[in-house]
Amino acid sequence: MNFYKIEKILKNNNCNFIHFNSTTSTMEEAKQYLKKFQSDVVVTADEQTNGKGRRGNKWISPPGNIYCSIALNNKVSVKDYFIFNMITLISIKLTLENFGINKINFKWPNDIFFKNKKFGGMILETFNSIKNNNFVIIGIGINYSSSPRIKNYNTTYLQSFIEIKNKFIFLDNFFKNFFFFWNNYIEKWEDIVSKYKKSLMFLNEKIVIDMNNNKNIKGIFKGINYDGSLILYKDDKLISIYSGSIKI
Ligand code: BTN
Repeated sequence: MNFYKIEKILKNNNCNFIHFNSTTSTMEEAKQYLKKFQSDVVVTADEQTNGKGRRGNKWISPPGNIYCSIALNNKVSVKDYFIFNMITLISIKLTLENFGINKINFKWPNDIFFKNKKFGGMILETFNSIKNNNFVIIGIGINYSSSPRIKNYNTTYLQSFIEIKNKFIFLDNFFKNFFFFWNNYIEKWEDIVSKYKKSLMFLNEKIVIDMNNNKNIKGIFKGINYDGSLILYKDDKLISIYSGSIKI
């Protein structure tokens, strides 16, 4: 196992590391930790019994996949929060590129695909401690050894397209990339945005967005704004979409 290497990288970044064989959700464990210690932590688990996905969905979390929450004391202002999404996704992409895999794309805002099949996603939550320290918690789910069948899109898992001895080797590499960007995000901002944009699926194509109120909205995907909202060309106008999911 690469626990030792992971602990070392995290320690160098003033971050604790906790691993569970099984837990309800690494997001909940990270919040419990923050309540007690108010300091940065990474929580991983082999299995979750109550995994949370975006938009109130469940994240199916059988043993063997990657479940990870990164809690960071946060000085980033709310309007810039999309930087966390971009850092996380491009770090996953770079990690896979280090293993020789190139066909990784992002489906706005937070989904990660290999050859049109989803293998991972992320959520972002905030946590305010009593001492008024603000934390963000980045929740990352990556299918490593299996993928669930989902009605609306195809899925895949890492072991079906990369040769890798165990998931901690992937995580070790991922944390190196992630903390490089986190430690340098101000200077690297342009580069981060450009890497994220370059990997977006459906850019300049007609798309249908499933809005959170179950209404659909159609238009041409023109890009993203600074805050991460999607720019849609519709009825001769550019409009911004703040939340929703692009239908495949
Ligand atoms: C998505 O809906 O696409 C994002 C899912 C994110 C799931 C991860 S798994 C680790 C962490 N713990 C959770 O309960 N959810 C996130």
